[in-house]
Amino acid sequence: MLASLASAYSICAAAALAVAAHAHPSLSTKLTHEKRDIIPGQWTKVSRAEATVPVTLRIGLKQRNLERADEFISAIAHPGSETYGQHWTPQKVIDTFAPSDEAIAETEQWLLAEGVASDRISRTSGRNWIKVTTTVGEAESLLDTTYNVYENNDGTQLVACESYSVPAAIQGHIDLVAPTIQFDEREAIVITRRLKQRDDSTAPKFKKLPPHPDFDADSLKNCSEVTTPACLRALYNIPKKVHPVQGNSYGIVEFAPQSYNQDDLNVFFSVYGSHSIPNGTAPIFQGIDGGYLSSESGSGIRGESNLDLSYAIALTYPQNVTLYQVGDSVAWNPATNNNFLDAIDGSYCTTDGGDSPDWDAIYPHDASSGNADGVYTGQPMCGVYNATKVISVSYGSNEDARPASYRARECAEYMKLGLMGVTVLFSSGDDGVAGLRGQCVKPDGSYTPVGAEYGRFNPMFPGTCPWITSVGGTALPPNSSTIHQQTREIASYKFFSGGGFSNLFPLPSYQASAVSQYYAHHDPGYNSSTYNNTRAVRGYPDVALAAQDYVTGIDGGFMAFSGTSASSPTFGAMIALINGERMKAGKGPVGFINPVLYAHPEVFRDVVEGKNPGCGTDGFSAVEGWDPVTGLGAPDYEKLKKVFLALP
Ligand SMILES: *[C@@H]1O[C@H](CO)[C@@H](O)[C@H](O)[C@H]1NC(C)=O
Ligand SMILES: *[C@@H]1O[C@H](CO)[C@@H](O)[C@H](O)[C@H]1NC(C)=O
Ligand SMILES: *[C@@H]1O[C@H](CO)[C@@H](O)[C@H](O)[C@H]1NC(C)=O
Ligand SMILES: *[C@@H]1O[C@H](CO)[C@@H](O)[C@H](O)[C@H]1NC(C)=O
Ligand SMILES: *[C@@H]1O[C@H](CO)[C@@H](O)[C@H](O)[C@H]1NC(C)=O
Ligand SMILES: *[C@@H]1O[C@H](CO)[C@@H](O)[C@H](O)[C@H]1NC(C)=O
Ligand SMILES: *[C@@H]1O[C@H](CO)[C@@H](O)[C@H](O)[C@H]1NC(C)=O
Repeated sequence: MLASLASAYSICAAAALAVAAHAHPSLSTKLTHEKRDIIPGQWTKVSRAEATVPVTLRIGLKQRNLERADEFISAIAHPGSETYGQHWTPQKVIDTFAPSDEAIAETEQWLLAEGVASDRISRTSGRNWIKVTTTVGEAESLLDTTYNVYENNDGTQLVACESYSVPAAIQGHIDLVAPTIQFDEREAIVITRRLKQRDDSTAPKFKKLPPHPDFDADSLKNCSEVTTPACLRALYNIPKKVHPVQGNSYGIVEFAPQSYNQDDLNVFFSVYGSHSIPNGTAPIFQGIDGGYLSSESGSGIRGESNLDLSYAIALTYPQNVTLYQVGDSVAWNPATNNNFLDAIDGSYCTTDGGDSPDWDAIYPHDASSGNADGVYTGQPMCGVYNATKVISVSYGSNEDARPASYRARECAEYMKLGLMGVTVLFSSGDDGVAGLRGQCVKPDGSYTPVGAEYGRFNPMFPGTCPWITSVGGTALPPNSSTIHQQTREIASYKFFSGGGFSNLFPLPSYQASAVSQYYAHHDPGYNSSTYNNTRAVRGYPDVALAAQDYVTGIDGGFMAFSGTSASSPTFGAMIALINGERMKAGKGPVGFINPVLYAHPEVFRDVVEGKNPGCGTDGFSAVEGWDPVTGLGAPDYEKLKKVFLALP
């Protein structure tokens, strides 16, 4: 029995292959498309669903060529490729991946043949969804299924089925149909609804500092206690003087209700800005779907954003930093990565169907449903901003907290951004091998109670997506005195660097040799009940940097924050500076960097001490070479710059 939720249903790919053998497969022969092997423990079947309940069926069509992702990415991002750096235009991305006209036409023909009136069938602008306005009764006949009402422990009731079928003739075109078997993921027809809460914040841990730190901001004597911009420059060889390059860009993404406070940035820059960052220095604000700056104080609201922006700006000033501030104050329907991605890629944005009504925020919001900071009652923002050349995001969630198809769609978008020359970085998580707030997975696929110490490892997404760069955490050994570039680092110990192996995403070619070396020399000592030990899946993180006790201005004073929330913006700053150097040399941005990083382990200071415990285990250990705690190790800016400047 497979333990994770995402693996609790299987997609019948083998059946689709069999279809190709028939010359004229019939529309009336239906094959099982997806089915659930188990109903998660918290749900109970209550009754048969009534045939008259209205349903909007969404048929997700298969994008073409996604199976060639590794090949496409390697061609432009592998240092040995003749076409390195030749990024794709947005039009080439659309032309390559959009579902074929044939897939759309044949799927619609099936619906018409089943008697669905044409005015009840519509397409989304991105062409990858067909919507059908129907009822439970008609959906049962279209999909050869039975819909039931299910109820969970807290009273939520929804309509779902346990398997469904589609015609053999068009099964190859169809990715998924919703709502069907996604009932435990709240992507179903919900009758009564639980209130949703933000579940993807890796809120950094913090400690309070004295109001006036009693040491020189340029001092390197206390870097094992408090991390400052000066410590990071010394550790990673980051230049102090930056020459801005027109057209270079670096973006930080923040989600409501969290947002930065300008007074706090001013206080931080006045002490740690090396006398060069003027009072009032702010990011370029790009609000998405009601994005706003909160009027509230406290580390819960300001901590994450103040931290991310203080270090992104301090390390790249006077280069501009862009803030993508996403989502309004409606807490029960919070914005997600998909809402952000819609705003920077119009082709991803399918206003009427691409985003999931049960995971993503759907706008407009009801004007009466937020707090004083504002409710977004406009249309979803679609392709209104350009993607910056580097994007860092310090949010993540448990890989299996959403359906595999949802994860795959989002991950494919990061691949497309990479093809277009954008570097996307995510912090790897702060709970070691466990998921958010220490949750692990039980054999029935549900989570252990928060804080419990048993169960299966719970990898974090988007870290497990092969098409982003996942940034883990390190620390200086306690009580290290003055630091220098040879100072050894250890895995973070005040929190544990998120790391491990995906249950969903296969091993990308750029990582194959590193992962096989890892297993050749180290036996993590866990069997397949504990994690996906097939050696054929994506491992994370890719790199790791200092992530403890970053001094940050907050509510007029200072606090020290710990988490991979800190290391991702720092690494992003290094990549943004390297893009500037490449632009000065007449070259393009670096885009997706992982193939270059894995081909050049010598630019990293390997981290070989520490571990990432969780789920009642010691987790994995940092060892020589790549490992699922600190990845390739800590990067040296000058060495990394040299590698990228030598590439076309
Ligand atoms: C080092 O930082 C700590 C804060 O964690 C502070 O209490 C201490 O005074 C600092 N030491 C020096 C020598 O600055
Ligand atoms: C930074 O942004 C400002 C305002 O958008 C713009 O005027 C300036 O040219 C930008 N600087 C660089 C170096 O791109
Ligand atoms: C920054 O400027 C504001 C006014 O624009 C002022 O109130 C504040 O005291 C200044 N902060 C610092 C740290 O100089
Ligand atoms: C996006 O980039 C294009 C081309 O460089 C430019 O014309 C446009 O003004 C930019 N849009 C925004 C919102 O910055
Ligand atoms: C660090 O130094 C403090 C004060 O000298 C001491 O109490 C503590 O045990 C030391 N920690 C380690 C890990 O050596
Ligand atoms: C482990 O990964 C492989 C390869 O992607 C996959 O086929 C398998 O289902 C995964 N196992 C679990 C338990 O998730
Ligand atoms: C993994 O090991 C545990 C403890 O030794 C055992 O109970 C379990 O059956 C094993 N699982 C597999 C798939 O071998």
